Amino acid sequence: MDVKTALENRRSIRKYKPDPVSDELVKELLEAARLAPSGTNHQPWRFIIIRDQAMKDKIQAAAFDQKYLSEAPVLLVCCADISTYELDTKKRVQELIAVGAMDPGAIDTYPGLNQPKNAEVLKGYIPHAMLNVALAMENIALRAVSLGLGTCIVQLMKPKKIAGILALPENLIITALMPVGFPDQNPAPRPRLALEEIIYKVV
Ligand SMILES: Cc1cc2nc3c(=O)[nH]c(=O)nc-3n(C[C@H](O)[C@H](O)[C@H](O)COP(=O)(O)O)c2cc1C
Repeated sequence: MDVKTALENRRSIRKYKPDPVSDELVKELLEAARLAPSGTNHQPWRFIIIRDQAMKDKIQAAAFDQKYLSEAPVLLVCCADISTYELDTKKRVQELIAVGAMDPGAIDTYPGLNQPKNAEVLKGYIPHAMLNVALAMENIALRAVSLGLGTCIVQLMKPKKIAGILALPENLIITALMPVGFPDQNPAPRPRLALEEIIYKVV
């Protein structure tokens, strides 16, 4: 399936068949996530794969009881690991230099590379980290279409409550939930703004 077809066929799926989704298929989705671009190649996305029914039920309860969350065979909790901006930046910069994607001088000029970052500074990375996770999620959504799977990005939830249920450390920031399963519905395309409405200005 080419990218345009996947883009045109993707829908937010809110009804799933009970048919199981194999570990191989989940792996395919996460391989697609791995390929997403990210700032300084930090790859801050981390995923929790939930198959356990009782756990899915608990998370659904913490997500305004959106029924399809526990109905889908797999529920991904998509997180941003902000500790990567403290621990891994130098390594990522070195890797990018090694493959020629960054100028060797970056090791001296990259902003704040050798300065420790406290918890408050790291919190400032949350929007940036979540943006990167969103790109990985869209990769998952599109790869899912090509595999006959459906997904939905779900942000209407109580992240603190879910983090508690899953006993997540503070560095993992829940960005969204993503149910995955074989669609039991075939929705028509949802409305979209016209091209003229999204071009704010041509300069
Ligand atoms: C950031 C984000 C958050 C969303 N949160 C929810 C949600 O909590 N519940 C839900 O049913 N759909 C959610 N959606 C799906 C949107 O409602 C959907 O993408 C939109 O209506 C367009 O429909 P389509 O995805 O089928 O094209 C979310 C989508 C995005 C991108």
